Amino acid sequence: MAIHTIGDKDIEAVRRASQDLREYFGSRAEELGRPLTYNLITYGCQLNESDSEKLAGMLESFGLIPVDITRNSEHLIPADVVVMNTCAIRENAEDRLFGNLGVYKKFKKDRSVSFIAVCGCMMKIDKNVDRIKKSYPYVDLVFDPQQLHRFPELVRDSLAVKSQRVDIDTIDYLVEDEYIPIKRDRRFRALIPIMYGCNNFCNYCVVPYTRGRERSRNFDCIVEELRSIADSGYREVMLLGQNVNSYKGVDNEGRTRSFADVLDAASSIKEFSRVRFMSSHPKDLSQDVLSLMGERDNIEKHLHLALQSGSDRILKLMNRPYDIEKFLNIADSFRKKVPGGSLTTDIIVGFPGESEADFELTLEAVKKAAFDAAFTFEFSARPGTPAYDYEDKVPAEVVSARFARLLEVQNELAFKSNSALVGKVFEVLTEGISKGDETIYSGRTITNHLVNFKADEEYLKKAGIEGSDDLEGALIPVRIERARPYSVDGVMAGDIIR
Ligand code: SAM
Ligand code: SF4
Ligand code: F3S
Repeated sequence: MAIHTIGDKDIEAVRRASQDLREYFGSRAEELGRPLTYNLITYGCQLNESDSEKLAGMLESFGLIPVDITRNSEHLIPADVVVMNTCAIRENAEDRLFGNLGVYKKFKKDRSVSFIAVCGCMMKIDKNVDRIKKSYPYVDLVFDPQQLHRFPELVRDSLAVKSQRVDIDTIDYLVEDEYIPIKRDRRFRALIPIMYGCNNFCNYCVVPYTRGRERSRNFDCIVEELRSIADSGYREVMLLGQNVNSYKGVDNEGRTRSFADVLDAASSIKEFSRVRFMSSHPKDLSQDVLSLMGERDNIEKHLHLALQSGSDRILKLMNRPYDIEKFLNIADSFRKKVPGGSLTTDIIVGFPGESEADFELTLEAVKKAAFDAAFTFEFSARPGTPAYDYEDKVPAEVVSARFARLLEVQNELAFKSNSALVGKVFEVLTEGISKGDETIYSGRTITNHLVNFKADEEYLKKAGIEGSDDLEGALIPVRIERARPYSVDGVMAGDIIR
């Protein structure tokens, strides 16, 4: 499929639509005598979170204000405009949407919600769109991730023609972000997609179908955005893509640039204390990237590298073009080049055809790689992917039992990784206050270990901060006192480094 780069005409059309909506919602607000509100609910990965930051930016450019002050929640509260940004990666993600949509039916009926849009990866799959048409007719608009940048036109046209699906191209756009308003969710972390889509077609995965072909953003546009967020005070940047190592963008002089060039440019910006990236595919990770990770103080000492399975036979069936020997060699290089760094992974249990022997190879690989943490998933058959039709499905009870065994092995490794931090002092980038107790803050070390620590009145006072003030974004020295399986506990151990 041809990749269409957004041009001046597209941008102008979006601007015009945003202006129309500002007028429309402005006059509705005058009639009602109050500002109009929106609620944006996000499911899925960081790429969806990044899309939601753009949706929020656009919604606010229409004059709407958020009703939900908690971030990333599934707070099903009414608002004049509700947007649900969906994920299709596993069946349970889809079930959550349909469950939540049922709740909104009542709100639409009692008119506490007037407009509902559903977007994201699920809306690129016809079966889901048909189901919404048939069973959820009160949804006003559906659109897919490739149409996100046309959100203002879609809302305006759907309000005008009262149709759920506005007739608009759904082709793979290459979108440079500068004309889309972004409302960043975090005060300290900026999510920067450097590429869109995926070309890898792992046999279990919907992403290449929902997000389209791989498109790398212009190198200079990325650098410009990095510079501007550094100037606005962001300390942490997260470079995003389904496989950042296959980034191949051009710069303004027409030269091809690699992911190592992007990482080099980002980490050369001194205002950033943390440069992170997600995700890496073992087939494309370069030694240049590992070397940079070891050399630059502000690149996170953490590599997320999905293993998926420890059996070469299953990796082949999954269409993951590496073998376990290659994976362990990369793990080894990482440990040598980034001493003390943490290695995390994704693993799928119960891929069709996985035998007991295959699963034992996964346990063995997990132990050899000594992952500091892992996201583990039970295989979920996704319609439209090759693995959906594979025979030889592993029975559900066998999958659950294997999953529990894997978790046990991984939890022990994670606890060991966390225990190694006890007694040492680390700079922690604070992410916020703990939910249950406002004297406890949480944040991450440069190795991405999650740290919960007690606020110390003395250090807070010294930095001119009131007791319960939010420390989000502050760099704080913390002495680690106790390890848990998924986090460590500590105490403040020095002046706040703002
Ligand atoms: N592009 C990333 C990579 O390859 O590292 C992964 C992105 S995907 C959003 C995150 C993880 O979801 C995958 O690494 C995989 O472990 C898991 N996943 C994807 N499809 C799945 C499926 N059908 N069933 C279970 N887990 C799945
Ligand atoms: Fe899915 Fe594979 Fe692409 Fe990751 S690399 S998004 S698992 S197809
Ligand atoms: Fe992300 Fe889910 Fe789509 S994981 S790319 S939002 S299918």
